[in-house]
Amino acid sequence: MQILGTIITTEETPSTTEFSFVISGKDTTVKKGQFIQTITKSNENMFGFVHEIFRANRYFERAESVAEYERIADMEKNFPIDSWEHMIANVRVLGNYKDGKFTRTFVPPSPGAKILNADEEVLKKFLGFEDSGMFIGNIQHHETPARLSMTRLLQKHFAILAMSGAGKSHLASVLIEELLERKQEDGRIATIVIDIHGEYVGFQYDEKYGKNVQVIEGEDIKIPLRKINPEIFEEWLPNLSGPQRELLRQSLHDLRTTADKKEGYGLKELFAQIEKNEGTRDETKKTLLRALGEMRRYKFISKNKELPKLRLTEPGKLIIFDFSSIDSLRKKQMIVAYIGRRLFSLRKKLEIPPFLLLIEEAHNFAREKAEAQDAISRSIIETIAREGRKFGASLCLVSQRPVNLSTTALSQCNTHIILRVTNPNDLMHIEMSSEGIDSRISKSIAGLKTGEGIIVGEAVNYPVFVNIRQRKSVKREKGLPLHEQAKQFEEAKKKKEEQVEAFL
Ligand SMILES: Nc1ncnc2c1ncn2[C@@H]1O[C@H](COP(=O)(O)OP(=O)(O)O)[C@@H](O)[C@H]1O
Ligand SMILES: [Mg+2]
Repeated sequence: MQILGTIITTEETPSTTEFSFVISGKDTTVKKGQFIQTITKSNENMFGFVHEIFRANRYFERAESVAEYERIADMEKNFPIDSWEHMIANVRVLGNYKDGKFTRTFVPPSPGAKILNADEEVLKKFLGFEDSGMFIGNIQHHETPARLSMTRLLQKHFAILAMSGAGKSHLASVLIEELLERKQEDGRIATIVIDIHGEYVGFQYDEKYGKNVQVIEGEDIKIPLRKINPEIFEEWLPNLSGPQRELLRQSLHDLRTTADKKEGYGLKELFAQIEKNEGTRDETKKTLLRALGEMRRYKFISKNKELPKLRLTEPGKLIIFDFSSIDSLRKKQMIVAYIGRRLFSLRKKLEIPPFLLLIEEAHNFAREKAEAQDAISRSIIETIAREGRKFGASLCLVSQRPVNLSTTALSQCNTHIILRVTNPNDLMHIEMSSEGIDSRISKSIAGLKTGEGIIVGEAVNYPVFVNIRQRKSVKREKGLPLHEQAKQFEEAKKKKEEQVEAFL
């Protein structure tokens, strides 16, 4: 293996936590963020992480001499400056490795010891990757594939955080591919995606994955009224007064007991039942009916029809809720609240397999600061975040506005995958809410390119930068790119004009 450099002494290093090495020769490249190793006197492998690199040259150490020389002649002409330039890498010690085990470092490495690139096999183990894990790309500066353990990533939930265009949905698609490809013997789960912009619908046309994908168009979502218990109504309409709630409960109960089972019952029947109720003030009835009128406009409550039937959720399958045609945020929140509750309760009863619920634009569904009527789905998301682990109910929260995301929900996401973020407020928030992110790493996050990210938390033993891999599925978004939309508009207009002309 190529020798990268030699450990040097500085005032305080090498120590058990840090050391520096001079990089050997001009042809050797060492990069910030690279993992390295050295052999200690007791023949153990010591692992480290290059956290900064400096260039140095003795000829330029003294400002006044440099200024003086440069006045007379170019320094380069009179001194062998080039050959005196060298680079020094600062390393943070990560631990020792011997006979398949990692230990803490108790003795510093020796000055003069040689530095090698980290052994890929050991690196894999050090970071906590699994051979059957979810392959999301390679570790930055290394050929080591990042294969995350599904259990470690999902069980305690995870969040994908980054600004728009940094590659969040791309990464989510990569993870979905990995989930769809899992074999039964490795453990398969069901994946449910709340797709706000119709970015995932392409999965259904994919040759490889399509057969395991069901896309539910937002307008087609139907929930039979009998499946909706009073608690869900109260979550949807948090501003109902005590008497209004009582009236709603009573009416739902009466409907359940009297209505024809086969026929089912919907909002129309509920309205009639409420009107019929005696012993309630007209005012109460009127305001309750007005509140329920909103549900009528949203048109997702049905008499009998149910789409999708979440009870039939299967392992290794993907259900995509395409919300791109729904305008109302409240309607979207109501549906997410229902889906979340229903999935969680079905899972608790073991009627469906363990699942991952992936929510795009999660800050709109679990808002940190919002009045109850604008935070309809927050409570169930927080509940799954807190309690889901025991039941195999996992969350993936995808957001470009982590500042607005419920702190309760975000703090329960034990792994954060962070792609480029440049907004200082968001960066600061991420630094505070993600364990393992210090100000140095936070600076690197602002400089990431599309497709680069850092993983911190439960899924890895140490924060690691990753180049996210290409996706295997074909990307097919809903909606055309802007220039196509513009072209289509003008073409359509021209056609119309021609038709009018021909007619005249
Ligand atoms: N790892 C990657 N490799 C290649 N292309 C990528 C990668 N990540 C993102 N992209 C591309 O960058 C663009 C923005 O990515 P996207 O996932 O839509 O960002 P976001 O969801 O964060 O707004 C897309 O065209 C996507 O295909
Ligand atoms: Mg996106």
